Amino acid sequence: MNALLFKCLVLCLSVSVVTHAQIFHLPNNTELNKLWHDFKRSFNKTYVGYHEERRRKAWEENIQRIVDHNKEAKNPEIVGDFYEMTHHLPEEFDWRKQGFSTPIYNQKDCGSCYAFSIALALQAQIFRQTKQLVPLSAQQLIDCSVSTGNYGCGGGSLRNTLRYLDQSGGLMTYKDYPYIAKQTRCQFERNRALVNLSSWAILPTRNERAMEVAINKVGPVAASINASPHTFQLYHSGVYDDPFCSPNTVNHAMLVVGYTKDAWILKNWWGNRWGEEGYMRLRKGNNRCGVANFVAYGIV
Ligand SMILES: *[C@@H]1O[C@H](CO)[C@@H](O)[C@H](O)[C@H]1NC(C)=O
Ligand SMILES: *[C@@H]1O[C@H](CO)[C@@H](O)[C@H](O)[C@H]1NC(C)=O
Ligand SMILES: *[C@@H]1O[C@H](CO)[C@@H](O)[C@H](O)[C@H]1NC(C)=O
Repeated sequence: MNALLFKCLVLCLSVSVVTHAQIFHLPNNTELNKLWHDFKRSFNKTYVGYHEERRRKAWEENIQRIVDHNKEAKNPEIVGDFYEMTHHLPEEFDWRKQGFSTPIYNQKDCGSCYAFSIALALQAQIFRQTKQLVPLSAQQLIDCSVSTGNYGCGGGSLRNTLRYLDQSGGLMTYKDYPYIAKQTRCQFERNRALVNLSSWAILPTRNERAMEVAINKVGPVAASINASPHTFQLYHSGVYDDPFCSPNTVNHAMLVVGYTKDAWILKNWWGNRWGEEGYMRLRKGNNRCGVANFVAYGIV
């Protein structure tokens, strides 16, 4: 395995922590009681007597902080599905079984994981709306998102890529702007764009439940991940669960297309000889490899 394959890099590291919630006003007492009840239920918590009071108070202070934070920073980055956290979800879900089957890509010697992750996440949104499978241009994202802080084949972050799409005026198709595994001049043409990003979101960090919710309610999500361990690069099949795959650093990005009871299903860009035909099953539930550190989706 070419060690350069995973040099997707760095910027994913500088991502700040985002708390849950799209709460912009302080809920009234009725709403608070309901939220508290849902919160306890969805996290399987029961508190008695004094503990209940104490926990509730801390939780309310948290809500207040979220509200204040959201008031100050009303931008599309601050999200998460606080209310939706409580919904019942299927135990397993796989977008491939819904028809979202995509080619196996090879990023080759270009740190373009961020571009593939976002291009595929947006393709999935088009698929949801139209049932059509139209590959989008990762190459446009590589060449053009330098304007928002990415480094072409030197790497980039999901956030910078989404910020680029916020103001790009659209994303072209793979066919019209194909992948060449090298950075070139930005050749985006507005009148040839297929879709626009209409909004995007970053999930509450280290929250695998939020990932399940998003995958069900929104679609496949882009996730940064620690792909450094040898065992990761040599992964062939089964549920990957190397305890040495630390959640404390991330340097790659993949697309989470679904989950089973015990694993995330991730699409990679390392060709068809890697993993289970280009996919990985990764142990769910302990933030293995930091898979839940930084997860994003876009809406078209
Ligand atoms: C609290 O908010 C809910 C929903 O916004 C509303 O239906 C309800 O009447 C409010 N309750 C009180 C006591 O203001
Ligand atoms: C909550 O607890 C029940 C009973 O112990 C368990 O079956 C269920 O899986 C738990 N749910 C979560 C989300 O941890
Ligand atoms: C995307 O948005 C830009 C700016 O609002 C607009 O000029 C362009 O036509 C849109 N493109 C598509 C494909 O919707």
